[in-house]
Amino acid sequence: MKLVKTLANLGYGSRKQVANLFREGRITDAAGEVLYADDSVAHADVRVDGEPLDPPQPLTLLLHKPLGVTCSTRDPGRVVYDLLPPRFRLRAPLLSTVGRLDRDTSGLLLLTDDGALLHRIVSPKSKLAKTYEATLAQELRGDEAAVFASGTLLLESETTPLAPAKLEVVDARHARLVLTEGRYHQARRMFAAVGNHVEALHRSRVGGLTLGDLAPGQWRALDAHDLDTLFSQS
Ligand code: URA
Repeated sequence: MKLVKTLANLGYGSRKQVANLFREGRITDAAGEVLYADDSVAHADVRVDGEPLDPPQPLTLLLHKPLGVTCSTRDPGRVVYDLLPPRFRLRAPLLSTVGRLDRDTSGLLLLTDDGALLHRIVSPKSKLAKTYEATLAQELRGDEAAVFASGTLLLESETTPLAPAKLEVVDARHARLVLTEGRYHQARRMFAAVGNHVEALHRSRVGGLTLGDLAPGQWRALDAHDLDTLFSQS
C-alpha cells in the first residue's frame, strides 16, 4: 500500500493533510531519509517527525474502562475513545468496542479493528466467559446460583431463556457472575429477576484475560500471546 494511504488510514490526517506532511519532509525512514507519498516502505521503517508509526491493523486494545464513560463514538459525555490517543478515533477500519459495558460498569473492555476477531469474541457459539463482580443492594437469598444455572431464566420482555450462568457467592452482598452471552444489561437484569438490585458492577475477566495492573483509564495493545490467553479460558 502507498504510504500516503497507510498514514491516512492510521488517522494522521486526510489524504490531503498527509500529502502535506510528505511535502514538508516530515515523513522519513529510520535513518532520517525523506520518504514520498508513493513509496511503499515497511511499517516499522517509517517515522513521522522522527516517531515510529502507530501500530498497523489488526489492532486490539485492552482498556480498563472507568465508571462514567460510555462505549460510544457519539455520546455528548465522556466516551471510551477520549481515553485513547486522538488519532485512534480516526483510524480506518475503525477501532470498535467488543460489545459494550454500561456507563456505570467499570472493568475490562476490548476494542478491535479486526471484524473476524470481534465476531469470534461476541458470538454466543464461542461461549467465551465474561466474569462480573457485583455489589448488591440486598443480601443474597440463597437460590440465585441455582436459578442462574438453570438455563430456564427468562428476562423481562424476552422470549428465549438465558444460557446457564455461574454464580459464586463472595459474601452476603457480593457475588461473581460468569456469563457466556452478552444480552442488554444482562447482569443487572438477572439480579433484578431474583428481586435484587446491582449497586456496582465491574468486569474482571474475559476468557483468560484479566486487567493485570492496568489502572482505571489505562490501556494496552494486545499481542498474539494475549489473544491465545483470551481464548484459553483458563
Ligand atoms: N451486564 C450489565 O448489566 N451491564 C454491563 O455493562 C455488562 C453486563
